[in-house]
Amino acid sequence: MRGRVSGEQYTQFDNPDPFASPVWRSPVYRTPELVIWIVQLLRLVWRVLWFVFRHPGVDVMAGVVLLVWLNAGWQGVAVMMGATVAALATLQLAFPRWFARLVSAPAGNRWRWWCYRRRWQAVMTITRLAPLYQGRVLLPVLGRVTSSRFTDRVSVGMVSGQSPKDFADRAEGLAHGFGVRQCRVRAGRPGAVTLELVRRDALAEPMSALPIPDAADLRALPVGRREDGNLLTLRLHGTHLLIAGATGAGKGSYLWGLIRAMLPAMAAGLVRVLACDPKLMELAFGRDLFEQHGRYAADPADIAALLEDAVADMQDRAARFAGKQRDHTPTPGYPFTVVMVDEIAFLTAYQADRKLRERTLAALATLTTQGRAAGYAVVAALQDPRKEVLNIRNLFPDKIALRLDEPGQADMVLGDGARDRGALCEDISPDPQTGAGVGFIRLETDPDPVRVRAAFVSDADIRAMVAAYAVPAWRSAPIGGDPA
Ligand SMILES: Nc1ncnc2c1ncn2[C@@H]1O[C@H](COP(=O)(O)OP(=O)(O)O)[C@@H](O)[C@H]1O
Ligand SMILES: [Mg+2]
Repeated sequence: MRGRVSGEQYTQFDNPDPFASPVWRSPVYRTPELVIWIVQLLRLVWRVLWFVFRHPGVDVMAGVVLLVWLNAGWQGVAVMMGATVAALATLQLAFPRWFARLVSAPAGNRWRWWCYRRRWQAVMTITRLAPLYQGRVLLPVLGRVTSSRFTDRVSVGMVSGQSPKDFADRAEGLAHGFGVRQCRVRAGRPGAVTLELVRRDALAEPMSALPIPDAADLRALPVGRREDGNLLTLRLHGTHLLIAGATGAGKGSYLWGLIRAMLPAMAAGLVRVLACDPKLMELAFGRDLFEQHGRYAADPADIAALLEDAVADMQDRAARFAGKQRDHTPTPGYPFTVVMVDEIAFLTAYQADRKLRERTLAALATLTTQGRAAGYAVVAALQDPRKEVLNIRNLFPDKIALRLDEPGQADMVLGDGARDRGALCEDISPDPQTGAGVGFIRLETDPDPVRVRAAFVSDADIRAMVAAYAVPAWRSAPIGGDPA
């Protein structure tokens, strides 16, 4: 024994030494075997009865099968089974949506519920989420499970006195315990939490560029995919968007994804893009496009002038609309204007000319504070999210954080507590195949960051976009043919 156990031995059992201090043990009661059998049998009967009482659907089904069997023998049961399978197959083929809603989704939820149920007690106990109260172990209550192809949402009733933070602190243990990739904890109504368990990474593979929509909805521009497998749409109308990420994190695919989604509205003259490209690397590719549907500037002085013109136009609009309308509706006369700035830090921090820097900053601050109602949106890409680099970062209501170098930077971009809520930006892979374009988005309306990935707009895609949409107006609306 000694060899296997380490530690100090401070009492000895079964010690014949009369001078050793006494050791007290609990008394042992011997229950007759028959009593144990009877008690266990009664318990089993009670459980069966309770199960029958709690599952009326199962009872009815069992009753029907029994009736058919009594009346028509096993052939009857076989025919009934066959008919059921045929009915389900027909439903699946004829009304796949109804099949998903009535059969496959509930069955999937049930199956996942059962997977969690099986490991529930062990995982809760070992992660120490099952406290002892008055000598009894209290387990958090497993509630509804909603399962999608990639994630499960599990609602949990907490034990009195537990907090969502207790679960968040053990998220890693929960993920490993349930055999999933990641677990995030969302606070729910009082006394409950929702565990968001990611089974499969919907974002592991790069996506090719989404098709150009027929009409652009400026409140929901499709640019990529969310972790639950649904489409990621971004809103530009009535907000400003900041995209932060280290070099090579894939900021470009968001900028180009937005432009791509707005192309129909740009062609219709309802949207203008003012592109500021101080690094001459990203937006230069679409220079013809911007020159036709907006403006393009790369030189810091030109950019400052562009932004100041935008401010003047915005203020002119604001004065014109004052008292007439509170919200802007894009028209060809007053198009929705997107000011797109790549590598904004080149203008606001690293620029040597102080005068120019201040002019640029002042214009950007004015646009972000007053532009929303006048139909102006600022979209900025940034590498280093520190306040010294961009002191107006809080003027952007919507934010996306891609791969970042340091753990603290996620909170700088997305706001306090974002990293605790699962925005692990420093863990995103630097390999472009798996990590470029992956990030976390936090919308003005929801404190919980959502993991997303932008579709990749390749150079060839951009060239095709420019070819199709940046042609003189008299050639841009051909009859029955590709505008290219
Ligand atoms: N959404 C994406 N999916 C897959 N790969 C991407 C995606 N976005 C970018 N990449 C790859 O990552 C590289 C760097 O992207 P880029 O947009 O230039 O980064 P950044 O502007 O953040 O420095 C690109 O050359 C491309 O190969
Ligand atoms: Mg870039």
